[in-house]
Amino acid sequence: MPRKKIALIGAGMIGGTLAHLAALKRLGDVVLFDVIEGLPQGKALDLLEAGPIEGYDCKITGTNRYDEIAGADVAIVTAGVARKPGMSRDDLLGINAKVVTDVANHLKSHAPAAFVIVVTNPLDAMVTLMKRVTGFPKQRVVGQAGVLDSSRYRCFVALELGVSVESVSAMVLGGHGDDMVPVRSYCQVGGVPVEKLIPADRLEAIEKRTRNAGGEVVALLKTGSAYYSPAAAAIQMAEAYLFDKKQILPCAALLEGEYGVRGVYAGVPVQIGAGGVERIVEIELTEKERKEFGASVDHVKELVSAMDKVLGKN
Ligand code: LAC
Repeated sequence: MPRKKIALIGAGMIGGTLAHLAALKRLGDVVLFDVIEGLPQGKALDLLEAGPIEGYDCKITGTNRYDEIAGADVAIVTAGVARKPGMSRDDLLGINAKVVTDVANHLKSHAPAAFVIVVTNPLDAMVTLMKRVTGFPKQRVVGQAGVLDSSRYRCFVALELGVSVESVSAMVLGGHGDDMVPVRSYCQVGGVPVEKLIPADRLEAIEKRTRNAGGEVVALLKTGSAYYSPAAAAIQMAEAYLFDKKQILPCAALLEGEYGVRGVYAGVPVQIGAGGVERIVEIELTEKERKEFGASVDHVKELVSAMDKVLGKN
């Protein structure tokens, strides 16, 4: 059986980490693309040279040519710029909208069957743009945000209680902005509702930290944004697709009536399998969570309008 082909568009910090994880997890052959000459080639060569130690035999190609991604099964898009301290994800809109439009056009012509996972920020607008420009079915264009945001929530809850991260399940829904919604009513520790284990004021602080977690890393790094955790999150989504796991993961999916929302990408629990986004799972939210989800979706709509202005559309 031929190996699967994973195209990674963008060879920055997330792109390089994605390539590393894809090789370590034996997901398939990796093509690392970037417009910067030498960067994808250098990272690919470095990763190839680790192969004999790690025992992976996959091909890892670094390239500045889109034709090398031909026939990719999965494309993970991180191309664009990352934020610096003091910037919000939304500040990246103008520049990254142009980058993602270009990437989408190339995916359309070179990898028309790919399952596309968008990571570039501002995520909800960029995944909307990817869907529009490629015209791919909604099942094959999805945004990575919820898996990362939920992982951060899970991490902080596990630290608070001193329990294994594996014992904590949680969901963060809505947009990937400061108004994302950590859904407390579905957060459980070993099956026990988190509210029974952590007092409300501490949970409040944990959820605030979750919403600002991307910015907390940016403030520390100073030169860019997080990459280990966003890469781990996107790889989990790719694995669910490649291995037809039918895993339920919080992802940015195109809503067409679900959650009372139409024509907007927002983070909701979805089932990912060989059919891509096979199902959107509708869960009951508390009154407060519903309001917060609505506000977060409104923010996504504003962001998409701002993007349309930047791109000269109405
Ligand atoms: C973050 C960026 C990747 O949340 O959006 O860290």
